[in-house]
Amino acid sequence: MNSVSQTETSAHTSETPLRQRMRQFYETSETYKGLLAEHDEAYHQPFVELVNRYTPPNAQILELGCGNGIASMLLNRSGHDVVGTDISALFLEEAAQWQKTATRDGEHNLEYRVCDVLELPFQDETFDVVCSNELIEHVPDIETALSEMIRVTRKGGRIIICGPNLCSPLMPLIDLMRLIRGKPGRPFWGETKRQALSNSARNIFLYMKKRLSPSPQFLYREPDLEGEVFGGDGDSAYYANPIDLEKCFRHHGLRIVKRCIGFSTKGKIMAICFPRISLYISMVVQR
Ligand SMILES: C[S@@+](CC[C@H](N)C(=O)[O-])C[C@H]1O[C@@H](n2cnc3c(N)ncnc32)[C@H](O)[C@@H]1O
Repeated sequence: MNSVSQTETSAHTSETPLRQRMRQFYETSETYKGLLAEHDEAYHQPFVELVNRYTPPNAQILELGCGNGIASMLLNRSGHDVVGTDISALFLEEAAQWQKTATRDGEHNLEYRVCDVLELPFQDETFDVVCSNELIEHVPDIETALSEMIRVTRKGGRIIICGPNLCSPLMPLIDLMRLIRGKPGRPFWGETKRQALSNSARNIFLYMKKRLSPSPQFLYREPDLEGEVFGGDGDSAYYANPIDLEKCFRHHGLRIVKRCIGFSTKGKIMAICFPRISLYISMVVQR
């Protein structure tokens, strides 16, 4: 990744060329689809368990940016009506088979729809739970995305957001440790020891700046959609972090139910001790 000053951009609030390029990228990238195919049931299980824990029985759930649709299918099997959505019809191709099985066997509906989180085709207050995993960092206008999530959530309903904390000072230190042990770091974020160290310092600065600011300070970057290397969030457009989310949700009058939950044992300890710098966002808010 280049330094922030070179990559920092502003939100794409209207249909800009970047928004069009990102949509086209997700609509056509067979390589990305191949990477998503590796996200099997075991991969999605921790997210599904977390959503189930904060969802009442027989709920109506909207999953955003569901990729291959497996998490939506697992949530449906847990006893909920689920609409799984993604901007890419290509990524949702295989999901049609689970939709058929669910309609035949189950008492709960499972449906997949192609849609952009920035323009959700649902009426206000439609869902009990709106959730996403590893989506928000790919959205070039997070403020609009969060407003849309809030709009379609019923009063008393919940929004559950998971994904990497791209402003955690710890994230680049993991790359540094890997590089010291002779293993590769992540493309764009910590490919060299120097890059990992400077990103960690930058994230400490961002953390302090965000904590001190009374309002959310959404920070964007130019995603790399041309390179051969995907994964490692090179295609991310927003420096996702829990501090922005917390401030934005509070500003809209929502209650923070859990600032950070954590998935693994280490993650849970981090979530209790340092919820805002833990490696993953796992936030639950109530409308
Ligand atoms: C890293 S993948 C995560 C997919 C899935 N949630 C998972 O965990 O396997 C990001 C997903 O977000 C989708 N996406 C990106 N921008 C989007 C947007 N504006 N609206 C809806 N989905 C979007 C992509 O098509 C892709 O499937």
